[in-house]
Amino acid sequence: MTAFNRQAAFDQAAAILEENDRGGYTVPTHGLYPFQWNWDSCLTALGLRHFDESRAWTEIETLLSHQWPDGMVPHIVFHEPDEGYFPGPDVWRTGRPTPTSGITQPPVLGFVLKRLFDEARDRKLADEKAKALLPKAAAWHRWFYQARDPEGTGLVAIIHPWESGRDNSIDWDEALARVPTEGVEPYRRRDTEHVDAAQRPHKAEYDRYLWLVQKFRSLGWDNSKLHDASPFRVVDPGFNAILIRSGLDLAALAEILGETGLAEEARGQASRARAAFEKLWNPALRHYVCYDRAGGVLVDSVSVGGLLPVFAGLGDKEQQSAIADRIREWRGQTRFGVASHDLADPRFESKRYWRGPCWLIVNYLISDGLARCGLPELADAVSADSLALISENGFAEYYDPLSGEALGGGSFTWTAAMVTELLTERGGEAPVRRSARA
Ligand code: GLC
Repeated sequence: MTAFNRQAAFDQAAAILEENDRGGYTVPTHGLYPFQWNWDSCLTALGLRHFDESRAWTEIETLLSHQWPDGMVPHIVFHEPDEGYFPGPDVWRTGRPTPTSGITQPPVLGFVLKRLFDEARDRKLADEKAKALLPKAAAWHRWFYQARDPEGTGLVAIIHPWESGRDNSIDWDEALARVPTEGVEPYRRRDTEHVDAAQRPHKAEYDRYLWLVQKFRSLGWDNSKLHDASPFRVVDPGFNAILIRSGLDLAALAEILGETGLAEEARGQASRARAAFEKLWNPALRHYVCYDRAGGVLVDSVSVGGLLPVFAGLGDKEQQSAIADRIREWRGQTRFGVASHDLADPRFESKRYWRGPCWLIVNYLISDGLARCGLPELADAVSADSLALISENGFAEYYDPLSGEALGGGSFTWTAAMVTELLTERGGEAPVRRSARA
């Protein structure tokens, strides 16, 4: 292993953020993902802030200018036509002025807004931007608790695996198997033209992803109907933890900005969710697991989704230490953490996307949560794994936890953004900004 050079890593990250900048938004990577993705953009803003705070706020503003009238923030905004991606706007047909997809993604927005605000060097800009963006973020959360929890259980369901951000996780296998494939229109995948098919989801999964899109399209993308009409409705502990943390951060931000009504609303949502969350704890597995709402069963699958509750400080001390033990156990079985799935599960695959590989954004969220839960050493170990991965294998989309091999797309934006965060977080000295942006 070559000696880790912080300055070189920081400069490489800066160059990737710049290379993937398309003006008011950033693409996740050239070729494979040529549009604006929701949670990619939010996390990318955390990277951009190290170079240009105004550009970081713009990243979020652009995303939110495509928020739907009902409050949903779509998972993809198709700013410019690009034939290299499937399914494009002609498949989604959501009828938005600028085409978007019709589903959403993990709501890291509230967390990101609070962090941009707290760390701002330009206070005036931060006050102005946070004030303008806060009601939009609150509207998105309101939408979640109405459209994705129509019975008021306190927890929201995803209705498509792509919403989770963990597209082909083992967590979805059983629920997805119930989705039919009859009537799926013929299609040609593009992802496997960019990336080795062994690192991507199988066709059987893709057929079902598309069946769901067609189903929702046939219902006119009316969110008052989609939840109940979807055969795939899963309550993911990771997704809900992100929503809870973002809700708590929005509440704190609203309080600072004098928006007490919004603060109270967000706190109420978070405390109802927190109360309901314990239903996702599986005492035998000592892990938070998914609840398959359509099937009415807890899912027997130990994944990184069940580690993310630390990001929202959920669980009591014993549950948090069970999560920490699990991370230690997985790190002990791999060269690099954190694997996205339990290695003891026969369905684990070290190279296939969300069925085993490490993702730096997940490491970042877990590490932040561990530090908040009073586990700074483990938090630092997870962050060190992230830096070891990029130093040995470059800025990939994801990595094989056993070998560290770079997988999926290259020159990946959110990986770069996370590196800028890791090199500057917790009092770490910011490397000199030597890039063209500086
Ligand atoms: C994949 C990932 C998703 C991400 C997107 C763009 O679909 O699973 O989480 O947002 O790529 O990077």
